[in-house]
Amino acid sequence: MGVAVPDTYVELADLAMARGVAPGKYVEGLGVTRMGVPLVNEDTVTLAARAARMALESAGCSPEDVGLLVVGTETAVDHSKPVASYVQGLLGLPTRCRIFETKHACYGGTAALQMALDWVRSGSAKGRKALIVCSDIARYGVGTPGEPTQGAGAVAMLVSDTPALLALEAGKTGVYSKDVMDFWRPLYSKDALVDGHYSVQCYLDALEGAYRAYQEAAAEPAGEGAYSDRFAALVYHVPYGKMSRKAHRHLRTLDGDTAPDASFDRLVGNSLVLPSQVGNIYTGSMYLALASLLSTASQDLTGQRVGLFSYGSGSCAEFFSGVVQAGAQERVKALGLEARLTRRRALSIPEYEDVMRAREHLDERPAADAAGTGFRYQGTRDHKRIYAT
Ligand code: CAA
Repeated sequence: MGVAVPDTYVELADLAMARGVAPGKYVEGLGVTRMGVPLVNEDTVTLAARAARMALESAGCSPEDVGLLVVGTETAVDHSKPVASYVQGLLGLPTRCRIFETKHACYGGTAALQMALDWVRSGSAKGRKALIVCSDIARYGVGTPGEPTQGAGAVAMLVSDTPALLALEAGKTGVYSKDVMDFWRPLYSKDALVDGHYSVQCYLDALEGAYRAYQEAAAEPAGEGAYSDRFAALVYHVPYGKMSRKAHRHLRTLDGDTAPDASFDRLVGNSLVLPSQVGNIYTGSMYLALASLLSTASQDLTGQRVGLFSYGSGSCAEFFSGVVQAGAQERVKALGLEARLTRRRALSIPEYEDVMRAREHLDERPAADAAGTGFRYQGTRDHKRIYAT
C-alpha cells in the first residue's frame, strides 16, 4: 500500500472563522481537523504516481511485475487519455500491462479492486500483480456547505495471490446500486454539486442494502450477539468523520443494538485518525481509513476480520471483508504516514482561496521551462500535459 497527500493543508478551525461559523461545527460537527489542498503543481496524476511508487517500494516490487494498472478517479484530467497512462509513463511500467481508468464517484477504486481480484483469482495474472490506485481532488465551491468536506490524496494497492496486508474473502461481498442524484460533477464544472443531506440518506440506504446483501452472500450460521461483532474493525467510506459515526450507528441499529454508539471507538475509532487530517479523498477515502486502522491500532489484528464499506454517489456501494495478515500492521506503520502529515505546510485562508482560483485554469497553464523533479505537474504545451519526473 502507498499513500500520497498534498504538501499543504487548511486548518478547519481557520476556515470556520473565515466563514463566520463556529469552529466546533467543522471540527466536532463534521469530524474533520484539516483538509489537504493541493498547489498548482499537483494533480490527480502526480498524487497517483507518488502513491504508486510508495506501494511498489514498500512491497519491494519491480514495475516489471505489474500486469494490470487501473486508476479509479472522479477527477480525470482528460476525456480520453486515462490518468493510468500518465502513471505508467512516470513509473516506467512495462508495455505488457493492461491499463485503464474507472469511474463511479467514490466507488471507482473499489470497482477496480474487485476487478483486479477476479483477474488474480481467474489465473489471468500468471504471477503478476495488479496495481490499483485511487486518486482524487475533492472540490466544492468556496462558501458552500460542502467546502469543509474537501480534501485530496491517493492510495495505491498491489493485489496478488500472496497478500501481505489483507486477504480479501472470496464471495463475501454485498452490492447495492441505485440511480440517485445525490452528488455529481457536471462536465462543465470543476466543482462538485451535491444535495448534501439527501446524500447522507443515500449513503445510509446503500449501507443497509449492501450489508444485508453481504450477510446473505456470506451465509454464515446464526450466532449470538450483534452480527458486526464478527469483525474486529469496521472501515467505512469517510467523506467526513461524522459520516462514519452515522454509518456505524445505523449498522448497529440494524444489528438490533440498542446502544449503537457504544462500540464506535472500539470498532471504528482507529480508522479515522488519518482521514480527519486529510479530508475527503473520494475514491481513496475508505482505503486511507484502512491504512489508518492498520497504522494506529494498538491491538494485534493478525488473523482478525475487517469489514469494509465503499460508497460512490449516484450510486453504487459494496460491503466486503478481509483478514489481516501477519506483519501487516508493522508494514503500514513503517510507511510513517502520521509523521508525513505533520510535515505539511498550513495555508492561510487567503492563500487557499488563491489556490482555488488558480486551479480553475489549471488545464490552460503554460508549462514552465524550468524542469522540476518528483512527479510534478508543470502545465500544458501544445495541449499536452507535461510532468516532471
Ligand atoms: N459544534 C458542534 N457541532 C455542531 C455545531 C457546533 N457549533 N454546529 C453544528 N454542528 C453539527 C450539527 O449538529 C451536525 O451534526 P449532526 O449531523 O450529527 O446533526 C453537523 O455539525 C453538521 O451540521 P449541518 O448538518 O447543519 O451542516 P451543513 O448543512 O452545513 O452540511 C453536509 C453538512 C451536508 C455534510 C455538507 O458538508 C455537505 O454537503 N458535504 C458534501 C456531501 C457529503 O460529504 N455527503 C456525504 C454522503 S455522500 C458520500 O459519501 C460521497 C462523497 O464522498 C461525496
